[in-house]
Amino acid sequence: MSKSFEKQIPDAGKKWVEEDSEKENVYWPNENMKEKAWISDPDIYKEAREDPKSFWSEKAKEAIDWFKDWDKVEEWDPPYFNWFIGGETNLAYNCLDRYLKDRRKQAALIWEPEPIDEHERILTYQDLYREVNKFANGLKELGIEKGDAVTFWMPMIPETAIAALACQRIGAWHSIVYTAFSPASVKDRMEDAGSKTLITADGFYRNGQLMELKDKTSKIIKEVDAENCIVANRAGSDIDMKDGRDHYFSDLVEGQDLWCEPEPLGADDTSFILYTSGTTGKPKGIQHSCGAYTAQAALTTKWVFDLHPEEVFFSTADIGWITGHSYSLYGPLLNGGTTLWYEGSPYYPEPDRWWKIIKKYGVNIFYTAPTAIRALRQREDKWVGEHELSTLRILGSVGEPIDPDTWEWFFEKVGGGRCPIVDTYWQTETGGILLSSLPGIGPFVPGVAGPPLPGIQYDVLNEAGEPVEQGMSGKVVQKHPFGIGMLRGVYKAPEKYKAEYWSEFGDEIYFSGDGGKKTDMSIGGQVLIQITGRIDDVLEVSGHRLGTAEIEDAITELDEIVEVAVVGKPHEVKGEVPAVFAITKEGIEIKKHGQELEEKIKQIVREKIGAVATPEIVYFVTDIPRTESGKIIRRFLKSLLRDEKLGDMTTASNPESLEELARKVGYEGPEDIISQTT
Ligand code: WTA
Repeated sequence: MSKSFEKQIPDAGKKWVEEDSEKENVYWPNENMKEKAWISDPDIYKEAREDPKSFWSEKAKEAIDWFKDWDKVEEWDPPYFNWFIGGETNLAYNCLDRYLKDRRKQAALIWEPEPIDEHERILTYQDLYREVNKFANGLKELGIEKGDAVTFWMPMIPETAIAALACQRIGAWHSIVYTAFSPASVKDRMEDAGSKTLITADGFYRNGQLMELKDKTSKIIKEVDAENCIVANRAGSDIDMKDGRDHYFSDLVEGQDLWCEPEPLGADDTSFILYTSGTTGKPKGIQHSCGAYTAQAALTTKWVFDLHPEEVFFSTADIGWITGHSYSLYGPLLNGGTTLWYEGSPYYPEPDRWWKIIKKYGVNIFYTAPTAIRALRQREDKWVGEHELSTLRILGSVGEPIDPDTWEWFFEKVGGGRCPIVDTYWQTETGGILLSSLPGIGPFVPGVAGPPLPGIQYDVLNEAGEPVEQGMSGKVVQKHPFGIGMLRGVYKAPEKYKAEYWSEFGDEIYFSGDGGKKTDMSIGGQVLIQITGRIDDVLEVSGHRLGTAEIEDAITELDEIVEVAVVGKPHEVKGEVPAVFAITKEGIEIKKHGQELEEKIKQIVREKIGAVATPEIVYFVTDIPRTESGKIIRRFLKSLLRDEKLGDMTTASNPESLEELARKVGYEGPEDIISQTT
């Protein structure tokens, strides 16, 4: 390590973990970490278990400023629950105003553009505060007010952070759509939310290319009859602007007042909606609250990432996902830290961009996804090895299970064997992290997410709904009292809310859709849980959540396709990719038109959902296994793609269909399908 870093950043080069003296591959925080960490006493788990409501009540008061105290800590009317009833607060106020006194000059947001010849932008707390106030006044001028839905199709640029915080300031709901989703997805989400305002940019840079946004939305803006389209001028492109409806971001803030009163919002008012994929067709608008979500984002950032105000937090998650909301934006600011946003690809101009950024800004906490680590690991180690990453103190992983090999590589090559990895398990619905070991307490075990956070009642149940023993697997659930930042509902779809989360084990238990195992380890009386992955019809492609039903609905729009089933196929880097089993209309010759049709299928998915959902492979088949009542048995399709045992085939009304499928996918599993199906 060079002396210069040691001088600049006091903790640089320190070791923060030690290996367990008896168990291989188990790590614990050392004295350095225990001394630094906000939390290092495992008694916190016991305290929270004994009286979760008092625990949350005390912590929520500590974490954020409330304009008005609540009258009641919690209410429960299954499957709905509510925290801090009667309380009032404001997320933007808590991110900005309260830090003006002590941290005016500290960087709140560091932005690194992708092009290397462009300069970074650094917004101090004072800068961000000023810009948010001005933009909030701009929104008001357009007539946007509390309770209005504002849709974003925005890249990772400072204007996105400003606009999101401005919505929070006035109580408008942002609904942020990932830029790799298609304009058609933006339209669906605008319609569902009844949103009449779109905030976008002319474009952004990725892999050295300008990716256009605004010009791609012309058609949908008309279709949804949008009243306003606000455009950040990121690249200075010449774009089509319609007078009266389209406004440049910079024009809207020009001359605005520097002060906009932060709206006192009820704890249970909606803070934002974020659409996510479930087991049914269209994505669902997950609603989060103004009070408890805010407190949870603040607390979990402090507990899990142990963020201290002088530290730089680099989360690579895009704002279009919940991780981008809770940990690229709100969590770090709620703790008075510095958040770092990078616009583009980790491979641009070479596959060491992230490591260069870490060095350039002295990043302390680095949070990313296993799929990205796997992809970077495939490159030569020299790309990481050449950089000094001595300022790193904590590494984090999210989005899917991290396999022990990838964990070790991340730990050794990026963390230099000095930093713990917090493997954080959570969901769009939970708003914040629910399972993870804590830096000052540990332990850190490759492949194991960790114990439930203090105050969280997670469990693993068998089919009968009973908790499994340690060492056993089952379905991962949450029990009352629920995490404070959990979803408050599915926008305009109470029946979906109930069916999706509160039906597997009745309306008093939240079912996550994930499978998990209780390990034989525990800490502070909490068992460490290993997540094994989704057991419902949801895919995790490069850590991005997609519903198989959504993709199927897009494909069945093609006239040539009669029936389709989409399942996840394992993929070395992406975790899984969509694989399509399609039955075509009679008379279509696959030999002749298969390739063309496959391209058509991929194209319609790109158009309706976005590039992230593009199927990797299409199998044209004549039949698909189903139950007597006609329901497709996906578990067979999944097992075929994984070379796994298929199990009882008599549940299928047409087991003979499996023979063709096994041939098509090149099944090499243990089952002798032919003898069983004939
Ligand atoms: C998966 C992302 C294993 C899980 C925050 C969950 C994980 C889904 C982990 C939610 C982890 C997330 N280990 N699996 N550490 N983190 N998942 O809504 O299947 O985009 O249900 O939220 O990601 O994805 P979502």
